[in-house]
Amino acid sequence: MTKLGIGIIGAGGMGTEHAVNLGGIEGVDIVMVADAIDDAATVLASRVGAEATTDVAALIGDPRVDAIVIASTDETHAELALAALQSAKPTLCEKPLAVDLDDAVGVMAAEAATGRRLLQVGLMRVYDPIDVELKERVPSNGRVHHIRAVHRNRNDFHRSIDHAISQSMVHDIHTVRWLAEAEITSVVAGMVPRNGDGVRFVTAAARLDSGALASFEFDDFAFGYDVSVEVTGENGLARTPDPADTALHDDWFAWFSVAYRREAEAWVSSIGAGSAAGPSAWDGVAVQAVVQAIQRSVRSGREEAVFLPDCPSLYGRR
Ligand SMILES: NC(=O)c1ccc[n+]([C@@H]2O[C@H](COP(=O)([O-])OP(=O)(O)OC[C@H]3O[C@@H](n4cnc5c(N)ncnc54)[C@H](O)[C@@H]3O)[C@@H](O)[C@H]2O)c1
Repeated sequence: MTKLGIGIIGAGGMGTEHAVNLGGIEGVDIVMVADAIDDAATVLASRVGAEATTDVAALIGDPRVDAIVIASTDETHAELALAALQSAKPTLCEKPLAVDLDDAVGVMAAEAATGRRLLQVGLMRVYDPIDVELKERVPSNGRVHHIRAVHRNRNDFHRSIDHAISQSMVHDIHTVRWLAEAEITSVVAGMVPRNGDGVRFVTAAARLDSGALASFEFDDFAFGYDVSVEVTGENGLARTPDPADTALHDDWFAWFSVAYRREAEAWVSSIGAGSAAGPSAWDGVAVQAVVQAIQRSVRSGREEAVFLPDCPSLYGRR
């Protein structure tokens, strides 16, 4: 039987995670790895038995490549996603769909114009067994009133407030949308700087179009990695448990290793079924709109509206 040939763009941490997970799935063959840095492409390609290239366009157009993973740096995603859409090959694009909301909307519109879902965005927490189990418990507490998302990160580098929100809080934003099955309409945010350079802590309160509220707490200089979610409904609350293995606090890759594997498996299944099924370009647009509203609110100190475009019918409206 012919194997599903996958091309990986970006041979860093996430490209490696995806290549190894996908390469471990029966019927899948990683055929090409592209990276702007020749050595990076070669190291990963030799690990997974693929061909290395620095020519991303050649990978997208290669007839052996049936499906594409975009795991290069954030600012490359929109252009590569558009090129992948033109090739009509199913594509798993790491978050963010684009670093600018208008560009994300452009990618979504290009996909909507094809009339079929080809893109899945790497908002992978929806595959985390702990989050999935929490989502199953949410309805038993009735209408959702409030979701609290807490995220701790042990960073040994200083990063900007904008990056903390776009690279880390973006996952919490998607968790809230997914659990509430609603869109965030406005946010009010604040931050504590880390010794005047970079960010130590970000907090945001949000209104959702269901009438629920959400709050985000993000500590970028904590004892270790830690993610938890609490959903309060009209009749009670449900929350994620502490990890059984405290070694998980050492490493966010380990914390979500099962989620990454399930994401890879689900994506391959969706390709077999003929349509992307996981987090969509619409999800990529919606989270980016919230990211940018939080970034604005941190600066303005005011409640900021989330500017969401109309949702194309291709994505339905959860
Ligand atoms: N879903 C998640 O949980 C998660 C976690 C970490 C990172 N990410 C996302 O995955 C992406 C990759 O992150 P990472 O941590 O692997 O970064 P990384 O820096 O380790 O790797 C990025 C790689 O992309 C390559 N690259 C840059 N521009 C390129 C281009 N135009 N063409 C080909 N290759 C190019 C770089 O040379 C580098 O090897 C980022 O967008 C990041 O936000 C997602």
